[in-house]
Amino acid sequence: MPDHYIGLISGTSMDGVDAALMQFGDHSVDIVSAGTSPYPEALREKLMGAARAPDTCTADVIGALDHWVGECFRDAALRLLQAAGVEPGEVRAIGSHGQTIRHRPDEDRPFTLQIGNADVIAKGTGIDCVANFRGADLALGGQGAPLVPPFHEWLFRSADVDRCALNIGGIANITVLPAAPGPIRGFDTGPGNTLMDAWIRRHRAIDFDDGGRWAASGTTIPALLETMLADPYFAKSPPKSTGFEYFNEVWLSRLIQEDADPADVQATLADLAATTIADAIGLHAPQTRELLICGGGVHNQDLIRRLEERLAQVNLASTAEFGLDPDHVEAAAFAWLAMRTMNGEPGNAPEVTGASRKTVLGALHRCG
Ligand SMILES: Nc1ncnc2c1ncn2[C@@H]1O[C@H](COP(=O)(O)OP(=O)(O)O)[C@@H](O)[C@H]1O
Ligand SMILES: [Mg+2]
Repeated sequence: MPDHYIGLISGTSMDGVDAALMQFGDHSVDIVSAGTSPYPEALREKLMGAARAPDTCTADVIGALDHWVGECFRDAALRLLQAAGVEPGEVRAIGSHGQTIRHRPDEDRPFTLQIGNADVIAKGTGIDCVANFRGADLALGGQGAPLVPPFHEWLFRSADVDRCALNIGGIANITVLPAAPGPIRGFDTGPGNTLMDAWIRRHRAIDFDDGGRWAASGTTIPALLETMLADPYFAKSPPKSTGFEYFNEVWLSRLIQEDADPADVQATLADLAATTIADAIGLHAPQTRELLICGGGVHNQDLIRRLEERLAQVNLASTAEFGLDPDHVEAAAFAWLAMRTMNGEPGNAPEVTGASRKTVLGALHRCG
């Protein structure tokens, strides 16, 4: 039986497709091959436009983007196979998260929309593809997000030490992993990198603040930080999840005064991310002793320093120290979720998402 799985995801940062070819052991992982394939700039612009300006997002636009993103995901999977010298027949399934272009779990008729045509992926790779992971949880009254906590639990939970896993993507999310038996918890804390990315893109025309150096050069504006922290999302009780359609340039423009110094604003945005993450841990997981960090934000030394200042009792570490490269945790999680689906096992954690029960996630798109 084929024993490899591929996970594919592009997160809210829309920086490209993270792909991982995995083998799973007993609570252990082996990355056979992994990498990030940046989106073509024209596609990225269109995706951001679709997220930013919903009114321009017609069925024709979404249909074409769905196919285009599917091609990028397919190619990312093919690149992995080639790099590893692994045949499609050795891979049991691809788990494709797709690209979220809208996440509205709290509407009267809730929905979440991930594009990246899974038939294009399955037929183009010769590997069965599981996709639409969030739909079933949403249909059961859940947020459909976050979905990685059960994987964090499977890999990172310890019976000896109270841990939290923290993913700092465009949006940041935590998974609370108590040492004592009992349910895990998890939710989106709010913006991770997305506002800092948007701000530096506007003022310096670059994609992100490397190492957080620009933020480090500024001084936090206390009144602005306070205004931002007053956003109702932060006070909301979990289950909760959010996305780019909420925390974005429009949100920023509403709050920032025209004459504010851009570097000071960047420092304030770094403090916003650090404060909301630390507050979430302080409120929902005060016993935490180890924080295992993954996602692109782990490379932002300035942000990590701000977090450290606020979490004096906690050891902060990259997930690399726990056996998994921080840049590949999410892709590995969707490979693992595909394995769960293929085995007929549930993939959601109702205590995290708020769904009424556990369920097998995703739809299977066959390659044959
Ligand atoms: N060297 C770095 N310095 C600062 N930030 C970084 C660095 N590398 C990556 N990032 C941040 O991480 C983001 C990508 O993280 P990722 O985990 O892929 O998020 P997502 O899942 O939302 O795509 C980038 O947009 C950037 O903000
Ligand atoms: Mg990314």
